[in-house]
Amino acid sequence: MTALEAAVGAVYLGAAACFVLGLHLMNAPPTARRGNALSAGGMAAALLATLVLVAARGAAPAAWAVIAAGTAIGAGAGLFAALRVRMTAMPQLVSLFNAVGGGAAALIGGYEFGARPDPGTAVAAVIAVDVVIGTAAFSGSLVAAGKLDGRLPGRPVLLPARAVLTALLALTAAVGAVLVAAGTGGAVPLAVAAAAALLLGVAGVLAIGGADMPVVVSLLNACTGLAVAMAGFALDNSMMVIAGALVGASGAILTKLMADAMNRPLSAVVAGGFGTGDGGPAAGGGGDVQRIGADDAAIRLAYAARVVMVPGYGLAAAQAQHELRELADLLAERGVRVDYAVHPVAGRMPGHMNVLLAEAKVPYERMKEMEQANPDFPRTDVALVVGANDVTNPAARRPGTAISGMPILDVDKAETVIVIKRSLGHGYAGIDNELYTAPGTRMLLGDAKEALASLTGAVKALVG
Ligand code: TAP
Repeated sequence: MTALEAAVGAVYLGAAACFVLGLHLMNAPPTARRGNALSAGGMAAALLATLVLVAARGAAPAAWAVIAAGTAIGAGAGLFAALRVRMTAMPQLVSLFNAVGGGAAALIGGYEFGARPDPGTAVAAVIAVDVVIGTAAFSGSLVAAGKLDGRLPGRPVLLPARAVLTALLALTAAVGAVLVAAGTGGAVPLAVAAAAALLLGVAGVLAIGGADMPVVVSLLNACTGLAVAMAGFALDNSMMVIAGALVGASGAILTKLMADAMNRPLSAVVAGGFGTGDGGPAAGGGGDVQRIGADDAAIRLAYAARVVMVPGYGLAAAQAQHELRELADLLAERGVRVDYAVHPVAGRMPGHMNVLLAEAKVPYERMKEMEQANPDFPRTDVALVVGANDVTNPAARRPGTAISGMPILDVDKAETVIVIKRSLGHGYAGIDNELYTAPGTRMLLGDAKEALASLTGAVKALVG
């Protein structure tokens, strides 16, 4: 090993430490930004060190041109997309980035296979796994992004003879990978395995409903991490192995946490067929819905001792976080105790509500996790539910419903529940919300942004 290679290895080690520390800092909202910056700094240092190594090894001008073009296009497109994305479209952007990662890992594997006349069984096996997983993550992530973005149907699309088809595709990919590892048939088995994995990703994710898509994106992210780690083994690049392993492990943990928070076994998520994928039509519910106007709702809020704000996907869709904060501040100025109850899968991605509320500068100590918030609902005068549906549905407490067993926010235990949403339509799970017909619930129908603004106006008019 030359001195330069040792120095680059040391930079990789420092970068890996930045990733680990960065992930740790991302555990809590107040330190998350720093964690992100630290991880990005580590990655920038690793990239620079790699470029120095490439230069020292004497890359041809054509190679530099490819690197420059790739960097310009990749960084340009990434920056452009990340700067312009709306918060509600973040899950599909993450999925698109994940597709790029999986595809890149698979291409690296394919290139390495072609570049080595005799890679040996171990390297060939690693390349085969990299290509199969990376390709499936690529196509699966593209389909997931399409579903989240509404370009593909959010409902589960069950292809004819799906079980047989997916089993055949999985078998083809596995046999191809084994032949590659055994060194038989040259590049043909690798190409066949890649094609089967490509179709497997499409068929597998098409069958999964939109409600489960964030879990799937996280799972595919874990797969991409694994593929990148495999590509790192093939290239003998420790940085890629470490970064890939971290992405794989953290993605796997996140997937498990999300599946647990929805009380859905991962096997059931992957099997597909759950949910409608879109907000459904008006809910029947089998009871009378009591409506409330902004003026009456303002009276209940202004004269309450304790109010809990319960944000959901509708708050993100309406981008009403600032209006929510303004109303909360107004109430707090009057001496009302205001907290925010955050369900772990409210919205469409992990931490969705925390990010929105943090953007509106809601103090972190006012954001209560579900376990902290639930014991307080019986002592709460008004629970103001803003664009949240499934995560408040008491049907989850009974067996036999699509969300049975999912832990929910116990808003129905508050004295009064005011629900802001546009209609009596369903949430992502596609079922009626029994909360809407409960005796203590009042529906304030309208867009969250407009309804909150009129509530704030009504409270101001009421108290001067
Ligand atoms: P949902 O149950 O999806 O309900 C959101 C509600 O917001 C809808 O019923 C909709 O009703 C309302 N809405 C939409 N746009 C609105 C607007 N502009 N103004 C006011 N309301 C609006 O949301 P939730 O309670 O946050 O639950 C999240 C769901 O996603 C759960 O089923 C969860 O399992 C699933 N999920 C989440 C995650 C993560 S990680 N967050 C992961 C997997 C699955 P109207 O159309 O009547 O307005």
